[in-house]
Amino acid sequence: MDKAKRKAIIAGNWKMNKTPKEATALLNAITPLVADADCEVIACVPYVDLAAAIEATAGTNVKIGAENCHWAESGAFTGEISTGMLKEVGVEYVVLGHSERRQYFGETDETVNKRTKAALAAGLKPIVCVGELLWERECNITEEVIARQIKLDLWDVTEEELKNVVIAYEPVWAIGTGKTATADQAEEVCAFIRAQLAKLYNQDAADAVTIQYGGSMNDGNADELLSKVNVDGGLIGGASLVAEKFAAIVKAASN
Ligand code: 13P
Repeated sequence: MDKAKRKAIIAGNWKMNKTPKEATALLNAITPLVADADCEVIACVPYVDLAAAIEATAGTNVKIGAENCHWAESGAFTGEISTGMLKEVGVEYVVLGHSERRQYFGETDETVNKRTKAALAAGLKPIVCVGELLWERECNITEEVIARQIKLDLWDVTEEELKNVVIAYEPVWAIGTGKTATADQAEEVCAFIRAQLAKLYNQDAADAVTIQYGGSMNDGNADELLSKVNVDGGLIGGASLVAEKFAAIVKAASN
């Protein structure tokens, strides 16, 4: 499939930044700058910001995502948020399996898979993050790591459900470090991810999946990264907190 036929998606991952009031101010700054975007624009924000973010983006082309969700419908899971709670406030996307969750909060491929299945069943669109550690890249097992994550994280996800899945390739060594993967490195792994999807599903299904790159993507390097045939968008951390920088990345994806 031609890259132009895939949905380009630029998503901000705000991580643990911005209070509800600050979220409203940032989104009020972002929305006019991206109003004519020719790609999907998403802001994934902390749970307590969701209501304010949904209100601030009502009637605009900016969609709102959460940064995680639990797999159970309800119950004794202190500190967790269900898919039903997210749906009711108007959330459309949810980031799952982010390396910070894997690294600091014990997230495993098994729990990423459970969350992904639950999100899909609830009608949310998961942005499933995969990526290798620096040590794994140095040991030359990047493909092994990515293949395993893709297989396990998407275990039991049907071809029909895959249409609502976005994959984000985020090499862990490039997150928040200012070290971006080169456009060729990003393309190589995004193409590998697509090949894995083709193996697990089929080529048509794989060709239709939006694969984002994330890791120090900014207004200076977005053009080159997004010019690659298998890089269909970006998952942006730091630069998504600055309206002008985020808007410039959206513009790069719209070209
Ligand atoms: P940075 O853009 O700050 O490197 O973060 C990337 C990221 O983790 C997005 O999910």
